[in-house]
Amino acid sequence: MAQLWGGRFTKETDKLVYNFNASISFDQKFFVQDVQGSMAHVKMLTKQGILTNDEMTQILSGLESILKDVQEGTLEITDEYEDIHSFVEANLIERIGDAGKKLHTGRSRNDQVALDMKLYTREEVTQINELLKELLEVLIHIMEENLETYMPGFTHLQKAQPITLAHHMGAYFEMFKRDRQRLDDIYERMNYCPLGSGALAGTTYPLDRAYTAELLDFNGPTLNSMDSVADRDYVIELLSAMSTIMMHLSRFCEEIIIWNSNEYRFVEIDDAYSTGSSIMPQKKNPDIAELVRGKTGRVYGALISILTTMKGIPLAYNKDMQEDKELTFDAIDTVKGCIALFTGMLRTLKFNDDVMKTSAMRGFTNATDAADYLVNHGVPFRDAHGIIGRLVLYCIEKNKAIDELSLEELQEISPVFEQDIFEAVSLETCVNKRMTIGAPGPDAMKEVIRINKEYLSLS
Ligand code: ARG
Repeated sequence: MAQLWGGRFTKETDKLVYNFNASISFDQKFFVQDVQGSMAHVKMLTKQGILTNDEMTQILSGLESILKDVQEGTLEITDEYEDIHSFVEANLIERIGDAGKKLHTGRSRNDQVALDMKLYTREEVTQINELLKELLEVLIHIMEENLETYMPGFTHLQKAQPITLAHHMGAYFEMFKRDRQRLDDIYERMNYCPLGSGALAGTTYPLDRAYTAELLDFNGPTLNSMDSVADRDYVIELLSAMSTIMMHLSRFCEEIIIWNSNEYRFVEIDDAYSTGSSIMPQKKNPDIAELVRGKTGRVYGALISILTTMKGIPLAYNKDMQEDKELTFDAIDTVKGCIALFTGMLRTLKFNDDVMKTSAMRGFTNATDAADYLVNHGVPFRDAHGIIGRLVLYCIEKNKAIDELSLEELQEISPVFEQDIFEAVSLETCVNKRMTIGAPGPDAMKEVIRINKEYLSLS
């Protein structure tokens, strides 16, 4: 049991207590960041005349050798140490002797862990953002290729009005674009360096916190040392943003599962992204989509857990905050895995254009347009609504679509119908006439694609 704080104690820590308290099994995840933080700290201490150049050189080369040995597998991080901070410091002292004992000058594990967690999550925010960008690139590609691929749009999971595949994919493009913007915001807000805050009240050494912040690529130092060691807002914000990403992925997965069902057959999931059944030979199951949908609960769980952990903690640092790590790490890994797998599944997804088109033609998705036709011929909308309602009932009886009726049949229901009704309620017309920005009409969609491609090239 290697601890940094034995001096005041007369008894060994109980083994169970030691294990309960220890965090090395999970905080080794930010080993690299811990070393980076220490290097910046040592450079700052030297610049301020607190350490000598010679001490700095020894410490930096010691830290570099620890980094290298762990990365090459010749030095193992074991639970002999309480946490990753103790592991690094103990190994440094073992390697370079007395100079190593000066590493922790003007620093506490409270500001150290606050820094490590920030450095780690900051990097992950960037990686999640990049993964989302790849997803957006797949989406924009599908959009460009499918400006005239017709499908039904739904409300209440009932066919409502015809749209295009480009339009449907465009809805998800907007969601994931906002998700990225949320990550950008989080990055900006969290990007202040807590190091130099000490245990809670700063230190009496003449630290240059701005310099440390600059070395570690932060916008500047945090402005209140108590807040610095007690703040996990950025973790909560990230978990909230990741929950929203998962919610969006989960809705998309739900649609893909429905579209992939035997009843819909709008899409076919690629063999590489489907699984079989151990008993039913005919099955090809959408397990990946289901798992992404399922894992959403896990990420929400992390958010609620950390919000709850934080809510009763008095200022400043308390050990409760150690609980932020495992769940955040798990949520980050889950989200990254889900985005990457989902992107692969979407990239290889086959859309059955004919099935989607037939589905859009069946189910009276052009009923609103038929009513609008009557309105354009002088019938008040409420009357037109009633007439088309009767027309739909008639079609259901005859098992026909509106545009499959003869002009005579149509005129029996309303004499206002003329030959041009067929053109007016065709799928193409229904979609093409919806040309305000944001609507599925191909010209409107082209403009949206142009705007979004520009966004992608700039972000
Ligand atoms: N493992 C601890 C954590 O994650 C590091 C900070 C320990 N600080 C302390 N005062 N016990 O929060």
